[in-house]
Amino acid sequence: MFPSVIFTFLAAFQFHTFEFLVCATDEKSIFILAGQSNMAGRGGVTNGTWDGCVPHECRPDPRILRLNPKLMWEEAREPLHGGINTKPCGVGPGISFANSVLQRDPCLGVIGSVTCAPGGTNITEWKQGSDLYYWLLKRANAALRDEGKIRAILWYQGESDSADETRAKMYKKRLIEFFLHIRRDLPSPVLPIIQVEPQP
Ligand SMILES: *[C@@H]1O[C@H](CO)[C@@H](O)[C@H](O)[C@H]1NC(C)=O
Ligand SMILES: *[C@@H]1O[C@H](CO)[C@@H](O)[C@H](O)[C@H]1NC(C)=O
Repeated sequence: MFPSVIFTFLAAFQFHTFEFLVCATDEKSIFILAGQSNMAGRGGVTNGTWDGCVPHECRPDPRILRLNPKLMWEEAREPLHGGINTKPCGVGPGISFANSVLQRDPCLGVIGSVTCAPGGTNITEWKQGSDLYYWLLKRANAALRDEGKIRAILWYQGESDSADETRAKMYKKRLIEFFLHIRRDLPSPVLPIIQVEPQP
């Protein structure tokens, strides 16, 4: 799963590593991580308790920050969505993604992860004008207070809409509407959105 996410990301940005350039950016590279529990992360959670195991890919790094529930930056650690979710969180894709991105392009500077993935949410709850929609915008704007640029949204959601056929059929339309609206309201009309396809 992770390699294909990164690949899409690279394809979207056409990254290059300029080995002979000095990396002199103070600007944060901000990624909005949104969706449902798949993005929040339940890795290593059994019976509501996380086992505390942190895979190597998810190791902390001083260059990887998260916007915590109080809208402050802090060094990112698993469980990345701790405090954002009411349900117990475990390992998710966020820190692993940030580590991969930094490995490929150390010049990106500091990675700012904006955690926005409450478990169990469906696409209707993310509709423009909803509480979640405004919450995401609020967190994104807070992330931009200091120097920074939103590079992409990582979107990992859909399982909640797969339970019945009617909703599943509506999903594509609802998702596209959400993407168009959120890009317009951020505002960043051509912001890359990286969608993870949930595996059956
Ligand atoms: C989880 O809870 C169930 C039901 O309470 C129990 O049977 C099971 O042994 C528990 N599993 C672990 C790994 O604790
Ligand atoms: C989405 O979730 C909300 C909150 O759980 C629920 O009230 C609503 O019926 C769901 N919407 C759809 C279309 O299933």
